[in-house]
Amino acid sequence: MKKIGVLTSGGDAPGMNAAIRAVVRKAIFNNIEVYGIKNGFQGLIEGNIEKMDIGSVGDIIQRGGTILHSARCKEFKTDEGQNKGIEQMKKHGIEGLIVIGGDGSFRGAVKLTEKGYPCIGIPGTIDNDIAGTDFTIGFDTALNTVIEAIDKVRDTASSHERTFIIEVMGRNAGDLALWAGLADGAESILIPEKKDELHDVVERLKRGQERGKKHSIIVLAEGVDNGFNYAEKIKETADLETRVTVLGHLQRGGSPTASDRVLASRLGAEAVDLLLDGKAGKIAGIQNNQLVNHDISEILQKKHTIDLNMYQLSKELSI
Ligand code: F6P
Repeated sequence: MKKIGVLTSGGDAPGMNAAIRAVVRKAIFNNIEVYGIKNGFQGLIEGNIEKMDIGSVGDIIQRGGTILHSARCKEFKTDEGQNKGIEQMKKHGIEGLIVIGGDGSFRGAVKLTEKGYPCIGIPGTIDNDIAGTDFTIGFDTALNTVIEAIDKVRDTASSHERTFIIEVMGRNAGDLALWAGLADGAESILIPEKKDELHDVVERLKRGQERGKKHSIIVLAEGVDNGFNYAEKIKETADLETRVTVLGHLQRGGSPTASDRVLASRLGAEAVDLLLDGKAGKIAGIQNNQLVNHDISEILQKKHTIDLNMYQLSKELSI
């Protein structure tokens, strides 16, 4: 293999730039040419492709977002879209592709691999919702962003003796909410994997108030409900006033943490090694701090699981 491509796809995540840098530098180290594809699979279809060199990834390891830009591309779900992408790969002589993104992006990678164009996936999403890896690139940074935000909300919650609902991202996964809630000592953590009944949440709030607790933090994963709906439900059930903070897209930005930069560097380099070893349709991941790889199609069928011991711990520590 002499020429490979790299793209970022789906929701961006801090650390994607560090992964791009690792892919480009590791490939060049092995005398392989690298082509950067802009705007994910959309850019592949449109031929938005440029050769990268060592300098194109200088000064990016510390930057959030993705220098290759990202997109969610409906057209690439179709045979026609995939074939247009393959035409562009042929035109540029690209023999293998590294796809940095989440599960939607990996479906595209599987299709290309099935059509004879080997792809390797690198999990990059703040949601941490990919099976076969303990962590995805961007999760640690987003977690730290959420914690910083909750700490700030707690200051005002404490001053005004209020209950706050903090809605965090994660799509259908509760990892961000669970880790942030545990790290922040939240009074309640609501995650899709373990639905707390509303009356339990209310009971917990009331018990706290009876013990003299003056403020409370409820961390709500977006996969459970919308923060404002949930506030309304608490109001209707228990006549309790709450305030709602929706953290939104600020969770996707910011300079990646050391942990995300290191993870991205390791996975980026590993993805190149996998391609050069003749592997195809694999996802590079990390389990028990060891680099691993799995078939993407297998991973897409597995459900990412959350550590329910952590959930139990959060309950025990926030009595
Ligand atoms: O997958 C990352 C993510 O930020 C999810 O947590 C969230 O549900 C979604 O993307 C938001 O997508 P968009 O940026 O397209 O609104």
